[in-house]
Amino acid sequence: MPKTAQRPPQRSAATPPAAGGAPEIRPGQSVALLQELHILTRDGKLNQDSRRKLKQVYHLYQFIEPLLQQVLTARGDVTLVDHGAGKSYLGFILCDLFFKSQAAGRIAGIETRQALVDKSQDLAARLGFARMDFLNLTVQASITSAALPAEVDVVTALHACDTATDDAIRFGLSKNARFMVLVPCCQAEVAGVLRQHKALSLSRTPLSEVWRHPLHTREFGSQITNVLRCLQLEASGYQVTVTELVGWEHSMKNELIIATRHGGARRSAAVRLDQLLDQIGLNDLRHRFEPLAPIPSADGTPGRPDAPEAGQ
Ligand SMILES: C[S@@+](CC[C@H](N)C(=O)[O-])C[C@H]1O[C@@H](n2cnc3c(N)ncnc32)[C@H](O)[C@@H]1O
Repeated sequence: MPKTAQRPPQRSAATPPAAGGAPEIRPGQSVALLQELHILTRDGKLNQDSRRKLKQVYHLYQFIEPLLQQVLTARGDVTLVDHGAGKSYLGFILCDLFFKSQAAGRIAGIETRQALVDKSQDLAARLGFARMDFLNLTVQASITSAALPAEVDVVTALHACDTATDDAIRFGLSKNARFMVLVPCCQAEVAGVLRQHKALSLSRTPLSEVWRHPLHTREFGSQITNVLRCLQLEASGYQVTVTELVGWEHSMKNELIIATRHGGARRSAAVRLDQLLDQIGLNDLRHRFEPLAPIPSADGTPGRPDAPEAGQ
């Protein structure tokens, strides 16, 4: 992500505090951008749907903004990579509300659909958002792509499909990310492996009731995937908080995972991860949830010692 100065917008994009009488629009926020994202209508109005959409975006923004600020204050620069960017509305809103007014900082959107990458590049150029990059890559390929720096401060993945969230975690671990903000999508892989080993699991535990109905298996697979992701992060030296993304009530996929690097891998999390994979028949997916640090032995060697648990 090469450094370039933020170019001035090619057309007037800023707005006074209340565009179209909408108090939700913040001072200096780009009306042109909100129109492109279909949050504002062409005549600058907010309807009920877009009001809700804006509320959602602000809600997510309020989690990410302090993280960006913290990094910027600490090192004078901040890089954010958004995986499964889609139309990049998260990246654009972050750029508009945060990066635009800062002298430093850069965002990259990773997206496999070339048409969306082209569209985002075009929109960023029109809005003068020169510190945004859009790369037509899979999340997995982005881990080793020369187009991205060796270290990244903040990783986001908002409803990145299926295992793309897992790849985003792997990306964050390999880039030594300070923060990861993840809103996982459905993950089919775990439920698929659970189903494959159904017969074995049925004989082992009363939890087998979960395998009786495909819908339950799917939902359990989705939940357990997020549990495994959290353990993977904790075992890799991150403190994890899990909360609900308010405003996304209509979506089943409204779990927000925020991981903050603190350096010490938690041995207990690594052990739990290991046991859970074994007990629910997910040994085939060990590679998927592998922590960054080696799992320490029972006496605490040679791996890193446990970091204090949250709240200790
Ligand atoms: C449900 S959309 C979410 C888009 C955006 N993050 C949002 O919340 O509006 C998921 C996006 O991830 C992209 N995607 C899926 N798998 C991917 C992968 N492995 N690598 C990169 N992008 C991926 C899809 O093309 C799609 O645009």
